[in-house]
Amino acid sequence: MQANGCRILSLNSQKEYLITVGTYGLSDLYLKKGPLDARKSLPDILEGKVVFIADAAKDERVQYPQIALAQGISSIIGVPVLGKGETIGEIRIYTHEPRQFSEADRSFLHSVADMCAVVFERAELHQLLEQDHKTRGRRKKSSQVPPLPTTLESSSFAHPSEEDFAKLLDFYCIEWLYEPRSFPLRWQGGKIAEMFTPDFYLPELDLYVELTTLKQNLLTEKNRKLRQLRELYPEVNIRLLNKNDFLKLLAKYGYGPLGEAKVEGIDRVLYSNAKIQRRIRTLARHISRDYTGQRLVLIGILKGVVCFMADLMQHLSLPVTLDFMAISYYGGDGQVVKITRDLDSSITGQHVLMVEDIVDTGMTLNYILSHLSAHNPASLRVCTLLDKRARRLVNVPLDYVGFEVPDEFVVGYGLDYKGEYRNLPFIGILHPELIKGEGPTPT
Ligand code: IMP
Repeated sequence: MQANGCRILSLNSQKEYLITVGTYGLSDLYLKKGPLDARKSLPDILEGKVVFIADAAKDERVQYPQIALAQGISSIIGVPVLGKGETIGEIRIYTHEPRQFSEADRSFLHSVADMCAVVFERAELHQLLEQDHKTRGRRKKSSQVPPLPTTLESSSFAHPSEEDFAKLLDFYCIEWLYEPRSFPLRWQGGKIAEMFTPDFYLPELDLYVELTTLKQNLLTEKNRKLRQLRELYPEVNIRLLNKNDFLKLLAKYGYGPLGEAKVEGIDRVLYSNAKIQRRIRTLARHISRDYTGQRLVLIGILKGVVCFMADLMQHLSLPVTLDFMAISYYGGDGQVVKITRDLDSSITGQHVLMVEDIVDTGMTLNYILSHLSAHNPASLRVCTLLDKRARRLVNVPLDYVGFEVPDEFVVGYGLDYKGEYRNLPFIGILHPELIKGEGPTPT
């Protein structure tokens, strides 16, 4: 195709970042210019469309135009890599001369993209099998597939402590990218004379992390570079971490040995607080869009919903009112379910959104929905943070779902086991030994 460069990118599991998995003809600086935000960087790709950029230096869809200019890149064409009809990656072709791409070029790129899709899917399957193999015996089912390129298997670390750090991040489900960006620090005669490449970028925290080896001479040098980086790039959030610092950082989010008092009894973290908050912002956006121009009554069932309700409502750009209910749970004593606390205000003729922490068998929600429908609201929809679909007995309609969770007992972020764990800032899986075959016993 007479191209000067090419790169193959993979979308991370949350479809937020494009990460390079293969390249040809591009300089190290260009490749390490930073993680590409999938929504800012050619959003049409996410919708499965081909993107053509005639002049990279002037097109506002290009995220790092100065670097493109410095590298002499003029035209770019991006073709989505589609898996099961959804964008899972992209192929980008770069040229130094401004040029158009013919129909034959485009059709050739689509064929290559189809081949990439097969490779991506095989790689993902391979990772799933590896993960399953590693965790078999320890837990029944692996619920989270790590994003394709940022896994321990596919990253070659410069230092063993970096691999340890990545393992810890994986354990706490904190997404990471290894050395995604190099920052030029010094120039000489128009050329870059010195660069700094932090070890990790944690997208959820928008934080770069550089690990230290604790050797004093190296530490002084790193501190100097960091000072320079902060001066040149004040918007960049970077931390120099030694092991102790790292443990303190985790403790701030309620994880790790220093946050142990809180996480005793937790097998593993399923969703970090940052991930929950991000998902809630997306849900709130969808709800605000769907109810534009209307007033909404949010109804929650006490007590598990408190954290979710509090965070969700803050992100709704609508006039809302709140109400709560409480119900009795199954106690095996021959009693039938009872509403122990009913609504304060009438919902007749109102738009009602039932907010739930988790839908498991669906029996609770089914009961509540029929109770609410009897009051003739103008509309009645359901928003649940967690959907334990595998255990559903009653088919209840869910309009907004945060996460589909595996068939495990989860606690934290409002959810309890025998009244405890509600205050954890994350959602974690309870040690199976603690439950000893009991069903959920919500309070
Ligand atoms: P249902 O089975 O859908 O009726 O769910 C009933 C209630 O059980 C939920 O509202 C939660 O309070 C509780 N529950 C179900 N699964 C879990 C879990 O994994 N952790 C904590 N509470 C749960």
